[in-house]
Amino acid sequence: MASSLVSSLTARTLVLLLVNISFSFNNLAAKHSNHATHHHRFHSHSPKSNPRLHQAYIALQAWKKAIYSDPKNFTTNWVGPSVCSYTGVFCAPALDDPEIKVVAGIDLNSADIAGFLPNEIGLLSDLALIHLNSNRFCGTIPETLANLTLLYELDLSNNRFVGPFPSVVLPLPTLYYLDIRFNEFEGPLPPELFNKKLDAIFVNDNRFTKMIPPNLGLSTASVVVFANNRFGGCIPPTISNFANTLEELVLINNSLTGCLPQELGYLYKLKVLDVSSNSIVGPIPYSLAGLAHLELLNLRHNMLSGIVSEGVCLLPSLKNLTFSYNFFCEEQGICQNLTSRKGLKYDDRQNCFPEKPLQRSAKECNATLEHPVDCFEHPCTGAGGGGATTAFGTAFIPAAAPAIVPVSSPFIPPSYT
Ligand SMILES: *[C@@H]1O[C@H](CO)[C@@H](O)[C@H](O)[C@H]1NC(C)=O
Ligand SMILES: *[C@@H]1O[C@H](CO)[C@@H](O)[C@H](O)[C@H]1NC(C)=O
Ligand SMILES: *[C@@H]1O[C@H](CO)[C@@H](O)[C@H](O)[C@H]1NC(C)=O
Ligand SMILES: *[C@@H]1O[C@H](CO)[C@@H](O)[C@H](O)[C@H]1NC(C)=O
Ligand SMILES: *[C@@H]1O[C@H](CO)[C@@H](O)[C@H](O)[C@H]1NC(C)=O
Ligand SMILES: *[C@@H]1O[C@H](CO)[C@@H](O)[C@H](O)[C@H]1NC(C)=O
Repeated sequence: MASSLVSSLTARTLVLLLVNISFSFNNLAAKHSNHATHHHRFHSHSPKSNPRLHQAYIALQAWKKAIYSDPKNFTTNWVGPSVCSYTGVFCAPALDDPEIKVVAGIDLNSADIAGFLPNEIGLLSDLALIHLNSNRFCGTIPETLANLTLLYELDLSNNRFVGPFPSVVLPLPTLYYLDIRFNEFEGPLPPELFNKKLDAIFVNDNRFTKMIPPNLGLSTASVVVFANNRFGGCIPPTISNFANTLEELVLINNSLTGCLPQELGYLYKLKVLDVSSNSIVGPIPYSLAGLAHLELLNLRHNMLSGIVSEGVCLLPSLKNLTFSYNFFCEEQGICQNLTSRKGLKYDDRQNCFPEKPLQRSAKECNATLEHPVDCFEHPCTGAGGGGATTAFGTAFIPAAAPAIVPVSSPFIPPSYT
């Protein structure tokens, strides 16, 4: 038995190995499909002599049975006991016994397979990596996934998975990459998700609802993308728990309400802040002027009002400042002439600036500005919907949000390869 230090180093090496394997995966896949019928005979390991490969064999055969369509023939050679030569299946020495080979990775990215995940997936307990990006897998995530205690990367993105957030992933001790975007998961996100040591939290383009959990733990994620869901409520002040790592916060196209919390200004590493196409009210917090690394600030299509202050317009790293389709009525100092900031892209249309072209009508502006928002009166507690509600309710929510591609491009699901 290796010491825990050695085994954690081995784990890292294994992951690097697998990442390398999956880089060359397309070549491998091409090779495999050319020799689909005969290569497994040349393999020396027999699953009978290696019970872990035998378990993997049972699991992979069950998985093959759960596939309805495999137009690119990825699983055509999933025949016979030599699982290590199956297309998309990668073996490596076991972490606890380098003498034996185990199935350590499955990479079926872009296979366009239709099917579901069988319970037998729990038998693949040596897996460190599962990549299923861009397939047509449906149904729910089996509870037996909890048995995959070495899992490091899980990419389920761009499939047809349904059901609540797959909480089975939460106890997985070494999970670092989790990508579930572009599925049909629904309901709330469990707060425990934010206590995990994850590199990124991609949950965009699902059907998640309820609040962003107010009891966020100390998260380690550098990217959080919630776009294109149905999250309501306000952005909780506890968002500041992400301060030590968060670089991109993308909340586009939800139903967020309330005021922007001052605590956003504590996210000192932030490069991208995109809250566009929500129903957020109130002013831009002064604290945002402290975000020295902020490159993109997108506030478009909300119900923000008040002054666009010079602190925001002078942010040193800013490349793109978009605050169109709000109810701002005054621009301070240099904000009045942003063309003088070379290299800054900006969009201030459809607000209530009296001197500027392409603004809202006086009637529309008056109706709104008659009901000033008091953020202190409606602090975001996270619990009961929080945030300010306004006299004009949801009347100004844009009917159809335009297509928006933020810097992080969460709309093209990449995979961790
Ligand atoms: C998959 O296999 C079937 C049957 O052998 C064949 O007709 C089809 O062209 C193959 N598809 C690809 C993408 O190789
Ligand atoms: C979990 O994995 C072990 C082997 O590590 C296996 O014996 C057991 O059957 C698996 N359990 C499930 C539920 O798949
Ligand atoms: C906005 O979100 C809704 C529902 O969550 C979705 O149907 C719609 O396609 C999204 N809009 C864009 C532009 O992605
Ligand atoms: C805005 O700034 C540019 C460049 O500094 C300058 O040429 C222009 O006259 C200014 N416009 C107004 C309205 O002040
Ligand atoms: C809007 O309010 C301003 C100042 O209160 C007033 O002068 C103007 O007539 C109003 N316009 C409309 C269309 O209500
Ligand atoms: C600025 O950002 C907005 C919102 O993300 C985007 O729609 C726009 O294309 C960007 N402008 C430029 C010139 O890159």
